[in-house]
Amino acid sequence: MTSNTEKYQSHITPSPDRLKGKVAIITGGAKGIGRAIALRFAQEGADIAIADICTDSMSSAEKEIRALGRECIGRQTDVADRENVERTVQAVLDRFSNIDILVNNAGIIVFGSIMECAPEDWKRMLDVDLTGALHCAQIVGQHMQQRNRGGRLIHIGSTASLLPTAQQGAYCVAKAGLRMVSRMAAMELGPYGITSNLLCPEGAVTDMNRELLSDPEVMRKLESKILAGRLATAEEIAASAAFLASDEAAYINGAELVHDGGITISPLWWR
Ligand SMILES: NC(=O)c1ccc[n+]([C@@H]2O[C@H](COP(=O)([O-])OP(=O)(O)OC[C@H]3O[C@@H](n4cnc5c(N)ncnc54)[C@H](O)[C@@H]3O)[C@@H](O)[C@H]2O)c1
Repeated sequence: MTSNTEKYQSHITPSPDRLKGKVAIITGGAKGIGRAIALRFAQEGADIAIADICTDSMSSAEKEIRALGRECIGRQTDVADRENVERTVQAVLDRFSNIDILVNNAGIIVFGSIMECAPEDWKRMLDVDLTGALHCAQIVGQHMQQRNRGGRLIHIGSTASLLPTAQQGAYCVAKAGLRMVSRMAAMELGPYGITSNLLCPEGAVTDMNRELLSDPEVMRKLESKILAGRLATAEEIAASAAFLASDEAAYINGAELVHDGGITISPLWWR
């Protein structure tokens, strides 16, 4: 029988040079899935800018990326603050002259039902996961449009973008809104060679859910509903982001890449 440790070992290899010469800005790239994406893109040859509120983790991510031989800058940024995003994008442009890829990954979750969601929780959820992502898409999208050399917008949605999830009321609304931001951006920017796609993970263990999933019963129940029998690793999610960022995905626009081990087609899923 496969042990849990074995189940969560990644056997995936980056494609060196696939993103060579590209500059990527990754929001929330200091930790978790965003950090895995930043590392993966760097392994594939991209230079990286990380925009995150958490400076400690950002410094260690920067060091890790530079050790791979790529350039990296970290900027303390709250994506919910538009002026802050504008200053960060300008700093990235000052350093690298252009931005080819935006990964809208920064996110938080406030657990709870929609009916009992407190107004301040609702506002914070939407400010970060939806409006924050819109700020980044607009500001970076305008740069890509003006320079007229195409580009990639990749938004980290969730299976919660597609289906209601118990006790994730405001999160589902924010992530469903992000799906439409992605599709609208695809429609408006497609003629400029800019694609906008939504990557929808079911999940990986990160700071966002570590406490919840440390309960073996919750984890067992969740894994039993996923056809793959396990959650993803952040590295697997990053591999899909790298594909969407690559030339291979040039014709994919306004799409959702569902990265869920089959849970959304499972008849008895945990929701
Ligand atoms: N972990 C999962 O199971 C899962 C599943 C589906 C989707 N997602 C999505 O993946 C993305 C990354 O989540 P994660 O699991 O890696 O979580 P995480 O908590 O490990 O990382 C989130 C990162 O975003 C940063 N961040 C938070 N608020 C920010 C703000 N206002 N401005 C800038 N940065 C901010 C954090 O500092 C952190 O580095 C999120 O959008 C999340 O909704 C996660």
